[in-house]
Amino acid sequence: MAKDAAVWITLRRVFWAVAASLLIGAIIYAYFGSHILIGCAVVVAAAALSAGIGERQPPKTVVEVPAQNDLHVLPPLSREMLERLPDPLMLVNGGDRVFFANRAMRDVIGVGIERKHISAVLRNPSILEALARTSQTGEPGSVDFVVRVPIERNYQAFTARVSTEPSIIMLLMHDLTSIKRTEQMRVDFIANASHELRTPLAAVAGFIETLKGPARDDEEAREKFLDIMAVEAERMRRLIEDLLSLTRIELNEHVPPRGEVALEEVIRQASAALSPLAKADGISIVVEAAPDLPRISGERDELVQLFQNLIHNAIKYGRERGEVKIALKQQAATGRRGPEAFVIASVKDDGEGIPAEAIPRLTERFYRVDVKRSRERGGTGLGLAIVKHIVNRHNGKMQIESRVGEGSTFTITLPALKKQTDASVTELL
Ligand SMILES: Nc1ncnc2c1ncn2[C@@H]1O[C@H](COP(=O)(O)OP(=O)(O)OP(=O)(O)O)[C@@H](O)[C@H]1O
Ligand SMILES: [Mg+2]
Repeated sequence: MAKDAAVWITLRRVFWAVAASLLIGAIIYAYFGSHILIGCAVVVAAAALSAGIGERQPPKTVVEVPAQNDLHVLPPLSREMLERLPDPLMLVNGGDRVFFANRAMRDVIGVGIERKHISAVLRNPSILEALARTSQTGEPGSVDFVVRVPIERNYQAFTARVSTEPSIIMLLMHDLTSIKRTEQMRVDFIANASHELRTPLAAVAGFIETLKGPARDDEEAREKFLDIMAVEAERMRRLIEDLLSLTRIELNEHVPPRGEVALEEVIRQASAALSPLAKADGISIVVEAAPDLPRISGERDELVQLFQNLIHNAIKYGRERGEVKIALKQQAATGRRGPEAFVIASVKDDGEGIPAEAIPRLTERFYRVDVKRSRERGGTGLGLAIVKHIVNRHNGKMQIESRVGEGSTFTITLPALKKQTDASVTELL
């Protein structure tokens, strides 16, 4: 590549030399009409050749490639491969000019950056420093930085010298945004989980201290404090159980469910388990199921857990002496793979309702509209996060409708099992 560039430069110098000698020769001939003086023109031409008129040679040991001709150092196949890389990449020549930026880089920095000086394209001083260092020492470098527009993204930039003559420095950027977000979520999750555990633990520790000290001989206080301690210990147990359950469900989220389940049975089992709790609040649970519902493919225990969470919420946040209504029906639709059937189950309460702005956040771990009320009722704030993962594993959908003061409806749509017809059996074979 360096040899090609040198030949090209020599050709251009010869061209300028011949052009200069012809011009000078023509002028001398026009003025003096003498052929002898053409010799002088040849001398001038030689001088022009050595002075390199029209060409300025870089006074460097590294060969700088002129920006407009740089692309020839990249064969079409390499260029196409770099162009299609999902990570942003640019190549900078020895003169600090960008001569190639792939599509991903143009998406980040903008179009029309080729041939511009690197400092006009990138403002981040740490990347410019890393590029300069690699250019001077030949050592690869790496630096983390943030692009704030159009949306904030975190990147790690790598610099490496990929060619010495001509000098070419590569800048490769790796998008770390989703890794950073996941990291932040993990940190938040641990902070939330520890906070949730610390609260009941602090209460239990406080009562132990009181029982050992001032309330040592107070029979009445001791009974009361032991009851509170039992409630707090139960809350800790539930929190740990929910955390373990969430982890297990998340781990299996991508494993298709194995069993075959009649959703009506699942719902009747879940509501029977919660009926003593509903009775205590004077709430009645009504199940209305359409006839001949198709079965679904599902994990029975997970589906019971899903509906127990929804029915429990409907009781907890429902109206005292109100009603929890569970309706089951089927729906047919035409999807991409032909006719499809779904089983739809909705859990409706006539309680306090949920403000519209809170609805999108309900499935976040530990999110509660009214933290005090949820805690009073022994809530951990993990119920709907568990529901979301179970729904995802079953390839279903959850819809939440609510009006403050009127109540809420949680609707779960699950794909029904296809009836095995002769045609589908043949298809499988
Ligand atoms: N049917 C409902 N009516 C009103 N608010 C609800 C209803 N269901 C859920 N919520 C709100 O959504 C929040 C999150 O519900 P989620 O089931 O995840 O947690 P929780 O009920 O507080 O605790 P957990 O279910 O872990 O015991 C609740 O704290 C409550 O504020
Ligand atoms: Mg709940």
